[in-house]
Amino acid sequence: MTRQLTRHVIGSAADLPPGSRKLVKVAGREIGVFNVHGAFYALANICPHGGGSLCEGFVTGLSVAPRPGQYELIREGEFLRCPLHGWEFEIATGQSYCDPKNTRLRTFNASVEHGAELVKGPYVAESFEVKVEEDYIVLDL
Ligand code: FES
Repeated sequence: MTRQLTRHVIGSAADLPPGSRKLVKVAGREIGVFNVHGAFYALANICPHGGGSLCEGFVTGLSVAPRPGQYELIREGEFLRCPLHGWEFEIATGQSYCDPKNTRLRTFNASVEHGAELVKGPYVAESFEVKVEEDYIVLDL
């Protein structure tokens, strides 16, 4: 049996310019809708790590370190930092990008491997499909 999606118009696309967000309550659920460089994404406002209000967090980029002692921020505006413990999630996918349980001073064997998959964390925030129809943002739940 397939579940019927319900459609919810949450506002005009013009009212949510790039870099902005809107918290809405739809069908009893708090959802954050984000405009990231002109694309719309929606995440449940509950952090999968510990239940924090994820969508009220700071929007940032991804820190990378091309060499020891040097870092830069790339993909600015594409990541969300949970206000409770600071875990970061990619807004487009809900994927977490840190694991504080493994952040401690200890020595490990080091190797060089290629690929963004290596830094992904264990959690993925719940996300929803977002469409823009005739200039209105529509959520399908
Ligand atoms: S509750 Fe969000 S990082 Fe812990």
